Amino acid sequence: MDDDLHIDGLRLLARLQSLGAIGALPGGGVCRLAFSAEDQAGRALVTGWMAELGLQVRVDPIGNIIGRRAGRDDGLPAVMTGSHIDTVRTGGNYDGNLGVLAGLQVIETLNAREITTLRPLEVAIFSNEEGCRFPPDMMGSLVYVGDLSLAEARAITDTAGVAAGDACLAIGQAGGASLPGATPHAFVELHIEQGPVLDAEKLDVGVVTAVQGISWQRFFFRGVSNHAGTCPMAMRHDAGFVAATIACEVRAMTQRYAGAMVGTVGVLQLGPNLVNVVPNQVEMTVDLRNTDGAELARAEADLDAFVTAVCGAEGVTFRKERMARFEPHTFDPAVAALITEHAGALGLQHKPMVSGAGHDAQIIGRRCPAGMIFVPSVNGISHNVEEHTDAHHLIAGADVLLRTLVSLAEQPAPATEAERA
Ligand code: GLV
Ligand code: MN
Ligand code: MN
Repeated sequence: MDDDLHIDGLRLLARLQSLGAIGALPGGGVCRLAFSAEDQAGRALVTGWMAELGLQVRVDPIGNIIGRRAGRDDGLPAVMTGSHIDTVRTGGNYDGNLGVLAGLQVIETLNAREITTLRPLEVAIFSNEEGCRFPPDMMGSLVYVGDLSLAEARAITDTAGVAAGDACLAIGQAGGASLPGATPHAFVELHIEQGPVLDAEKLDVGVVTAVQGISWQRFFFRGVSNHAGTCPMAMRHDAGFVAATIACEVRAMTQRYAGAMVGTVGVLQLGPNLVNVVPNQVEMTVDLRNTDGAELARAEADLDAFVTAVCGAEGVTFRKERMARFEPHTFDPAVAALITEHAGALGLQHKPMVSGAGHDAQIIGRRCPAGMIFVPSVNGISHNVEEHTDAHHLIAGADVLLRTLVSLAEQPAPATEAERA
């Protein structure tokens, strides 16, 4: 590999800043929820850049955008990179955006050097990776690989009752590209770590070996509202008390399982939400994650039993909805080895690590060899307007991506040519 092969760092930073201006929040950070007007504007900006770079752009019916650069043998399966540009409501400027814009920087570098790789290169923007408006997360990549049907994805509604399919159509992003999408030769995603490890250990790059399992559930509790002063404690059917008890149990559970268990109650809405009224209805979400799939399943079963017991004792009824469920995913060791090799050759301090967050790479990785490159999140903060990664780390990560993609895109077809598209 040419020692001089580097992306244009200033261009990457400028593009990150321009995209970050769309949906910018007054005090800092970004809100670009999936299929919103801000998402639409972000997509327009990035697809404009894709076109300027000469990429052939296609959009599929769930709004995944793929920009393609031809290879010397354009019939071979492409090497794909990419990520997402939707954000949580209180998001930062790097989660997802870095992976997409670094992909464009790779293309720009190869264009400038007039390098044509053997295999085509593709840069993907996957729809609705965050899933906080339309669960599950990684919706676009799930539909891309065919593990979530288009009809099912389109029918998922947000809290206002808007269907994802209608929202995608309304922003003009329901395209005609075929689904499931073509399986790439390999997929590599650059992403910020979103956790504290690399920053605390003063490392430049994480070579992601696996992603932990994810379980999202939504609970609805129904009790009886009553006067907070007159209703004796023994006669209450307090949906708020039930939810609070379960929220405390979720925290306690994180100490009890093997693997690395984390648990979060991120949504807790009480009704009627008044100081002197016993709550009669609650909506609550539980996000459980574990590196060990069997332990995650055991925790879910234990939580079920706990919810049933607490509700029974309080005379509160409940129903639950599954929002998302992902088994832990192990990335391809050969892709990880390539990332490690290039990080080392660039003189970067690196280590293998497991991702706590979900990513499109774990979904595309169900079909082809995949890997991820992490760069440090200052103080480990993400899904927060304070999210920050230092410029030199953004650029270093993009350089590792560039070299990894070029290596993969020069891999010849297998002797049998069996993988020819
Ligand atoms: C996606 O951002 C997740 O919640 O892991
Ligand atoms: Mn992300
Ligand atoms: Mn995210």
